[in-house]
Amino acid sequence: MRLKVTAALFAGLAVATAGLSVAHADNVIQQRQARMKEMGAQMKVGADMAKGTIAFDSAKAAEIFKTLQTSMDGYVSLFPPGSDKGETKALAVVWSDRAGFESAIASFNKSVDEGVAKGAADEAAFKTAFAAAAEGCRSCHQTFKAR
Ligand code: HEC
Repeated sequence: MRLKVTAALFAGLAVATAGLSVAHADNVIQQRQARMKEMGAQMKVGADMAKGTIAFDSAKAAEIFKTLQTSMDGYVSLFPPGSDKGETKALAVVWSDRAGFESAIASFNKSVDEGVAKGAADEAAFKTAFAAAAEGCRSCHQTFKAR
C-alpha cells in the first residue's frame, strides 16, 4: 500500500516536472526568438541606411548597434539542454557543437562591439560596421538555424 502511494506520488511528480520543463523550453524559445526579432527590426533600418533609401542618421546607427549588443547579452543561456524541442528553428548542432555556437556568438559580438565603438561616426564607418554585423547574422544562421 505504502509502496503504491509512493509510486503514484513519484509518477505525479514526474508528470508535473515534465510539464514544467516543456513550459520552460517554450519560454526560452520565445525569448530567444524575440531577441532575434528585435535585431531583425533594427537590421531593416540599417539596411535602408546602408542602401541610401533613407539618409544616414548617427543616432539611428548608434541605436542599431546598441540594440544588437543588448539583444545578444547572455544569449547562449537561452539555449539550455532540452530547448531543442518545440517550435524552434535552432538546429541540433547548437547543442552538439556548443563550442562552435559560442564562437559564432563571440565573433558576432566582436563586430557588434566595434559597431558600438565606431559605427555611428559617419556614413562610411556605419556601412563597414553594418556589413560586418550582417555577415555575422548570415554566417551563424547558415550553420545553426533552419531556413
Ligand atoms: C550566433 C548565432 C546567431 C547570430 C549571430 C544571429 N542569429 Fe538569428 N537566429 C539564430 C538561431 C539559432 C535562431 C533560431 C532560434 C529559434 O527558433 O529557437 C535565429 C533566429 C532568427 C530569426 C527568427 C526569429 C523568429 O521569430 O523565429 C530572426 C529574424 C533572426 N534570427 C535575425 C537575426 C539577425 C538580424 C541577426 C544579426 C543582427 C542574427 N539573427 C544573428 C542564431 C543567430
